[in-house]
Amino acid sequence: MQFNRLSELIAQGRLQGKRVFIRADLNVPQDDAGNITEDTRIRASVPAIRQALEAGAAVMVTSHLGRPTEGEFKPADSLAPIAARLSELLGTTVELKQNWVDGVDVAPGQVVLLENCRVNKGEKKNSDELAQKMARLCDVYVNDAFGTAHRAEATTHGIAKFAPVACAGPLLAAELDALGKALHQPARPLAAIVAGSKVSTKLTILKTLADKVDNLIVGGGIANTFMLAAGLKIGKSLAEAELVEDAKAIIAMMAKRGASVPIPVDVVCAKEFSASAVAAVKNAGDVADDDMILDIGPKTAALLAEQIAQAGTIVWNGPVGVFEFDQFGHGTRTLALAIAGAQGFSIAGGGDTLAAIAKYDIADKIGYISTGGGAFLEFLEGKTLPAVEILLQRAR
Ligand code: 3PG
Repeated sequence: MQFNRLSELIAQGRLQGKRVFIRADLNVPQDDAGNITEDTRIRASVPAIRQALEAGAAVMVTSHLGRPTEGEFKPADSLAPIAARLSELLGTTVELKQNWVDGVDVAPGQVVLLENCRVNKGEKKNSDELAQKMARLCDVYVNDAFGTAHRAEATTHGIAKFAPVACAGPLLAAELDALGKALHQPARPLAAIVAGSKVSTKLTILKTLADKVDNLIVGGGIANTFMLAAGLKIGKSLAEAELVEDAKAIIAMMAKRGASVPIPVDVVCAKEFSASAVAAVKNAGDVADDDMILDIGPKTAALLAEQIAQAGTIVWNGPVGVFEFDQFGHGTRTLALAIAGAQGFSIAGGGDTLAAIAKYDIADKIGYISTGGGAFLEFLEGKTLPAVEILLQRAR
């Protein structure tokens, strides 16, 4: 993709003494006391900040945290815990600035964090007035917030229209390069795993991928709906009967291209959904009326692992079973290990997927792990991410 990159500006010496505004996605989970429970996004934001500092820039960083009400700042909305973690990671004090829209005091070689940008009036509606004010704060705008790239807000889109220079930071560029490689120039066969509880939330992704991939592996409640479409009984398993026709259409679309949606040949069932539920492996044709399917069975997992091993590219979104309960985690574990051991390039994203990667300890064996949740899904849907689109426009 043709957008300006921070690395190019640095190589051209264009950051020395300049004011740089970095939009990061530091929207991290916190516990009730406000402690950060998972800091991947903060760690991922460090390279852009460090590179800008080393290039001699005066650096301002902002992010949203949660979905606060504009104009009504509450202590729980504050980026203060993030400023503390960022200070540790950068090895320098990162001061948190309040009420920063009309001016920020920051010197070259210094970094400051600008309080939750979603508290500013006009942020979510992408107000030009707000965006112009923010653009006046800087010489160079850097978008490094892949996780928020699907939002057209004043710090992700508007400011990029008005800043003297707008570019992508290293995280955004790496995400787009990895996703682009996996979906636009994939080494074949291309296998996608799309799993989760509902077809409805991932229908567009399934349809988009049905046109591109060689194997569309479905799991979770999504697989149950596909089993219904294939004429199998699923007992009282989670499924969306009203989407069976869509599932049939996807199966037909794939078959027409000589590609496939593998339907489970065996499943793991239980009579209840609980941590202590007893797991029973059954052939796909033997599911009883009072059964709930909570995982793919071992034969299915082995067949899918084989397809993954042969894939040139693997895109993974969603666990194929209720892996939080170990007796229903075999399918997700088998696929996770197959992805970890595969020769092909793999890319994974989405909250549940990241939890599975952590549980099976395979993070260092995945080709690329996306920091995006909604943004990752929208990219898979084939949508243009507005924050990326504006950077492309600015580069034309
Ligand atoms: C995310 O957590 O997916 C991003 O930070 C975007 O957050 P949002 O859905 O509140 O825009």
